[in-house]
Amino acid sequence: MADTELLDAIRDVVGERGLLTGAADTAAYTEDWRRLYRGHTPGVIRPADTDQLARVVRLCAAARAPIVPQGGNTSMVGGATPAEDGSEFVLSLARMARIRDIDPLDLTMTVEAGVTLKAAQIAAAEADCLLPLSISSEGSAQIGGVLATNAGGNNTVRYGNARDLVLGLEVVLADGTVWNGLRRLRKDNTGYCLRQLFVGSEGTLGIIAAAVLKLAPRPHEVVVALCAVASPEAALKLFGRFQSHDPAAISAFELMSGLGTDLVLRHIEGAVLPLASPAPNYVLVELATPRPDAGLRDALESVLEASLAEGIVSDAVIAASEAQRAAIWRLREEHSEAQKREGASVKNDVSVPVSKVPEFVRRATAACEALMPGIRAVPFGHMGDGNIHFNLAQPVDADPAWFLAQDHAIMDTVNEVVRALDGSFSAEHGIGKLKPYMMPDWRGGAELATMRRIKDALDPLGIMNPAKVLP
Ligand code: MLT
Ligand code: ZN
Repeated sequence: MADTELLDAIRDVVGERGLLTGAADTAAYTEDWRRLYRGHTPGVIRPADTDQLARVVRLCAAARAPIVPQGGNTSMVGGATPAEDGSEFVLSLARMARIRDIDPLDLTMTVEAGVTLKAAQIAAAEADCLLPLSISSEGSAQIGGVLATNAGGNNTVRYGNARDLVLGLEVVLADGTVWNGLRRLRKDNTGYCLRQLFVGSEGTLGIIAAAVLKLAPRPHEVVVALCAVASPEAALKLFGRFQSHDPAAISAFELMSGLGTDLVLRHIEGAVLPLASPAPNYVLVELATPRPDAGLRDALESVLEASLAEGIVSDAVIAASEAQRAAIWRLREEHSEAQKREGASVKNDVSVPVSKVPEFVRRATAACEALMPGIRAVPFGHMGDGNIHFNLAQPVDADPAWFLAQDHAIMDTVNEVVRALDGSFSAEHGIGKLKPYMMPDWRGGAELATMRRIKDALDPLGIMNPAKVLP
């Protein structure tokens, strides 16, 4: 099919507002959030429902036209950006944004791919439930993308990753067939677990159209504290204190470096440090419980008092209102945005065993400073599950383009330390376009060969998000 014929056929399916072709209209879909990649596309296709989505995929398969599925376009690894050569359609799920069902007794919700994570959280809360997945980009990130990338975020320590919250999926396969696996069963032991193949596949095997998510009871009590600590070692000790008190109460345990927090205070309007003076590192700890009588605030106070007395914590503040809680979380959530405003940065989304986080931070900082004088380590993230965003900010006066050109050397330096500590080179951001080159080294042999066979079986034409994940 000639290009214009294909565009006309797609337009017939999705209507005028379902297909964007002008450069001005497609611009927001062809560049990634980090501005590392700028692609081109013959069109951004915006189906309104699963039927339209399936028909469009059938047309693209018949024409062998590659497709890049896209949710909120918040990938940290260029996972949703089309190629520069203008051959790949972007398939935006944004119009498929209905919440189909919420069942507080089953503790499930059925949502379409284009629902933002924030909207899904709000809908769950209105039904007196909790959707226990929270990431910094939740206002834009959409459920389809969150699942396709197996997002992690702040609550993994308690509830696991996106993968752990999926009971069922509706998927449009690479040939346009619809697989309806929207089951909401807690037990369903019937052959290969197909849904988990699509979770984390980053759109390379099929397109998630809708999902059944597990909910949790809505917490009755949530308490948040910001703690000043001298070092990641002290943060680890504090984590141990909370764990021995009640591991099931910890819903988030986040580490922030002094520099990262300074950047937030400097670049984000309205951000304030609710402590008397700045510290070398901070911990944001959140405890939550659905029990009405748990007395979490008292528990938090007693753990913090003991930790202050032992010198593990040098200062701490407990949020006294919802506004203070949000203000403390803002210091954490704005880390990426503040680093973007500070200049170029190279991200390393890595994980190590929780007990190794301090050693990792120490060794990776030393290795990067030896590689490039003036480089600024900004470690922060989900310490409670071992996932640290070991981001490197450019030296103050360096040329941003020069700095970014060293990204492989910097990432490889960090990854050497990760490997020595039995960690992973991508904890929650996935592989996208940025990291396929690392796959042979880290996941080579039988593992990568099996992944390739799965890809070949499910996407024999190679049209689903080409050049992502697999090298
Ligand atoms: C976060 O947790 O805020 C993101 O995953 C961050 C990042 O690496 O910038
Ligand atoms: Zn993160």
